[in-house]
Parts: sequence; C-alpha cells; structure tokens
Amino acid sequence: MTRPLLNRRLDGFGTTIFAEMSALAARTGSINLGQGFPDTDGPEAVREAAVRALRDGRGNQYPPGPGVPELRTAIAEHQRDRYGLEFDPDTEVLVTAGATEAIAAALLALVEPGDEVIALEPYYDSYAACIAMAGGTRVPVTLRPDGSRFVLDLDELRAAVTDRTRLILLNTPHNPTGTVLTRAELAAIAELAVERDLLVITDEVYEHLVFDGEHLPLSTFTGMRNRTVTISSAGKTFSFTGWKVGWVTASHDLVNAVRTAKQFLTYVSGGPFQYAVAEALRLPTSYFHDLAADLRAKRDLLADGLREAGFGVFRPAGTYFVTTDIRPLGATDGFDFCRSLPERCGVVAIPNAVFYDAKERGTPYVRFAFCKRTEVLNDAISRLKQLRS
Ligand SMILES: Cc1ncc(COP(=O)(O)O)c(C=O)c1O
Repeated sequence: MTRPLLNRRLDGFGTTIFAEMSALAARTGSINLGQGFPDTDGPEAVREAAVRALRDGRGNQYPPGPGVPELRTAIAEHQRDRYGLEFDPDTEVLVTAGATEAIAAALLALVEPGDEVIALEPYYDSYAACIAMAGGTRVPVTLRPDGSRFVLDLDELRAAVTDRTRLILLNTPHNPTGTVLTRAELAAIAELAVERDLLVITDEVYEHLVFDGEHLPLSTFTGMRNRTVTISSAGKTFSFTGWKVGWVTASHDLVNAVRTAKQFLTYVSGGPFQYAVAEALRLPTSYFHDLAADLRAKRDLLADGLREAGFGVFRPAGTYFVTTDIRPLGATDGFDFCRSLPERCGVVAIPNAVFYDAKERGTPYVRFAFCKRTEVLNDAISRLKQLRS
C-alpha cells in the first residue's frame, strides 16, 4: 500500500502537544501548567444540578438535536442580559459538544475546498485541523508582541483578504496570548467583514475571564448580527471542562447551516449536563465577578513569579494563560525548553510554536496556565526560580 492511511488533509496533525506534555507531567510527577483545565471543580450547586438531572431522568436519553429548551432559553437570556443581543432560543441557538464541536461544525458547514479562512496566529490547535478537514486554506494573520501585549495589525488583516476569503475565524479573549481585542479593533474587523461581505466565526469561550478592559462580542457591532457565528462554552466559565457543553448563537440561517454539519458529528451529547449548565448560566452576577477576581489574582501571582524567575512576561488581559519569552533566561527554543523543564525543575508548560504555521515566529514563547490552586502556583513559582541558579 503506497497511499498513507491517514487522510492527507490531516497530514502533520499527529498527536496534540497537550497529550504529550500531560503524559510527561504524569511520568515525571511535575506540576502541569500546560493544559488549560482548573484543578478544582466549579460550583457545588451546578454539580448538584447535574446529579439531580441524572436522578430525575432528565437528559438520560437523546436530548433534542438543537439542545434542551431549558439551556437554549438560558443561553438566549445570557446573551440578552449581558450584551443586549437578542436570539430566538428555538431557531438561533444551538447546543454542541463543547466549543470544539461548534468550531468543527461551523467550519465544515461554511467552508468549501478552495475557500480561504483567515485565522489569528498563534491559534488554538483545533482551528487548523478543522479548516483542513473542511478542505479550506488557512491564512494566518499574526499577532505580534508590542510592549507587554500581542497586537493585531489591522493593515495586515485587510491585506490578507482576497476574492477567495470565505470567513475570518476570530478568538477573543485570545488563547494563547491573553489579548482581548479592543472596541476599535473589533469595529475595524466588523467594517472589513461588511465591506468584503465575509462571514466571521468568533470563539469567545473566555468571555468571562477578562481582567483588563471588557469583552465585546463581535456580533454587537454594526452589520455583524447576521454574518457572525458566536461560539462559547461552559467549560471555562463554570470550571467543568470535562462536561463538554458548548453553544452557537447566530442568525437562523447560520444556525441551520451549522446544525446540518453538527447533527452528523455527535448528533447530541451531555443530556443531564445541559440541564445543569442552564442553571449555571442563571447564577447571580456575583459568581461571574468572583470568578474573574479569583483568576485576576492568580494571573498576578503567576505573572509576577515568572518575571522574578527571569522570564519575559506578557501579562494577559484575559483567558487563564500567560505567554512568556524565554530568551532572558538564555534559552531560544520553546520546544527544547518545555521538553527539558520537567527534569530541570518539575514544571510542565506548552511551547507556543505549536500554535503557529510559521513555527519560527513562536519559537521563543512558552505558555503557562494559571487556573490552578494558589498553593500549586506558589510551588510552581519556587520551582521555576531554580532555573536561575
Ligand atoms: C480558544 C479555545 N476555544 C475552544 C476551546 C475548547 O472548548 P471546549 O472545551 O468547550 O470544547 C478551548 C479550550 O482550551 C480554547 O482555548
């Protein structure tokens, strides 16, 4: 057999770096600041809501394709109360198996072979794989370091649009850089999308994890309501990343398109968890405030600790990741650095190069997650400080 087993569209995608680094953490007993998952579960009341749903037999059999009505209504209310966005829970909301499935379904639904998809680089790793599975061509626009922030060059974005551009795939707050796009940046993106008649998929899973500035959904900008597929998820907001409940809000036509692909991926998932997330979305505003305040304190703790340990630090405005520059430590290659870090000091991190098409653009950067208990972060910081000695 000369033909490779793996579909050539997936050539080069191999095993995700998260699996490799999490295995390394387990093997070496290191503190895992690689993969972005909290080391404590979300609110007890939400966990109890899932238990109740399981016991009461709600969602134990296939839930409705678009998601249970209770959750779709709660999502629509969240978008209205938080952002003033009106979506019909019956036709403009779709529940998915995490944001990951929403991203896959949206790209498979909207992209055809030959279409170009502009994605902010560095990008979350599933974007590249899903664009490839859809047969699209990825066109990266790179966020570049400018002082303590990675910034989007709007001229570069404009220049990246061609007659083949189908859509822009946006992510704000942005993983892994922690950049939160500003009102002016989002307005410029909206203007461009309208001018060039582009669709936008916007991944807003970190919408509630903003420490400086504010999260503004692209869909609120002029002309964007009916050309934007907004994606979010319960994983990050409620610290239940294993539940995999995500959602799409968009116009009826866009939701219909995304649902057409989604129904043949998982069809449905997580029945009882959907009921629990419906309750979670109705938690008092103090919950969302406390979540951000807790993570802001952890951001400061880890960012300051990393700086004291000798890293260059890009203090994130949102998400639960901090990107660092390893060059002040005399290192140059993030892959080598992350592969040796567990042995050198018992900490696992992720080389940002995995999030780039042009790996060399990400070579000196390494990402640490701070969604961990304070004592774990303190322990990691004192271990990382050994790098200097
Ligand atoms: C930017 C981004 N989008 C999507 C996801 C996945 O979300 P979910 O767990 O809901 O599938 C993640 C998880 O790390 C992420 O960082």
